[in-house]
This record gives sequence, C-alpha cells and structure tokens, in this order.
Amino acid sequence: MNQIIFLNKKNLLSKLEIKKIEKIKFKYKDNHAISIESLKVVQRYRHWISDISLKAISKYLNIELNYLEEISTFYSQIFRKPVGRHVISYCDSFVCYVKNYKRIKNVLEKTLKIKTGQTTKNKRFTLLQTCCLGNCDKGPILMINRDTYTNVIPKYVNNILNRYR
Ligand code: FES
Repeated sequence: MNQIIFLNKKNLLSKLEIKKIEKIKFKYKDNHAISIESLKVVQRYRHWISDISLKAISKYLNIELNYLEEISTFYSQIFRKPVGRHVISYCDSFVCYVKNYKRIKNVLEKTLKIKTGQTTKNKRFTLLQTCCLGNCDKGPILMINRDTYTNVIPKYVNNILNRYR
C-alpha cells in the first residue's frame, strides 16, 4: 500500500512515488522529458491525477504547472477525473473504425450498462474511447488497464471482462 506521506506542505508526493520518479530521472537530464512518466507513476498509485497531484509533481520536478496541464490533457492515458478500478479503452481511430470497433463499443456499453465516459455504479469499470494505440493491423483493439486485447470480436467481450470482475 502506497501511503501518501505529507513530507511538508509543499510536497505531497509519497516516498514511493518519489523513489520511482527518481529512478526515471536518473536516465534523463531534463525534467520536462520525464514529466509524462512521472504523471504515470503518480497515477499508478492514485488512479487519476487531481489538481493537487499535478501541483505536487510540478513542484517536485520544478517545471511549469501549465506545461504539465497541457500534456496531461493531451495524453488520453492520463486521467484528470476519478475513474473506476479498471479502465477500459477502445480505439476509435481510422483502422479500428474500418474494422468495426462500434460493435465492440456497443457490447461494452450494453454489458456494463454505461455510456462511454462513464463509470459503473460499483466503481469497478470506466469506459473510455481513445485514439490509435499503435496496433492497427490487429484491430479492433481494447485496452484494460495496461493489458491489450487484439482482434476483439463481440462474443469475446464478456470473457475478457470476467478477468476483471
Ligand atoms: S487505429 Fe486502432 S490501434 Fe490504430
């Protein structure tokens, strides 16, 4: 369990988060270069990036808050709102569109009883659409947390979800 330790009023990152960020920092000279990875580190433990988290990262890396805000809204894998325990993202970019990703989207929405962008009542799943995941020849693509599912067909969806229920 990653307990958030309030080191002081200005630094709200936990010791574990700092340790992980320091490991990444070791490889790069520029803190801007590690900002997206730092956001991912913090998100891994807190599940989303709140304004407070963003400020803490900005302070810790000594980089502009505006810059962090921009990249955190640019990358669809960074969540600026609370999400469920498992985040399901389907790709709606061109190739997955041609490969009829909509059938997968429809089954997901029907099975989970939510629309894209929503979280189930039990906070177990959040459903999001995302842009190209770089696996176009294997579309339609589904990502659940950090797991990628390729060539997904509607009848597989329930079995896939069962792994996270
Ligand atoms: S278009 Fe879906 S992974 Fe590229």
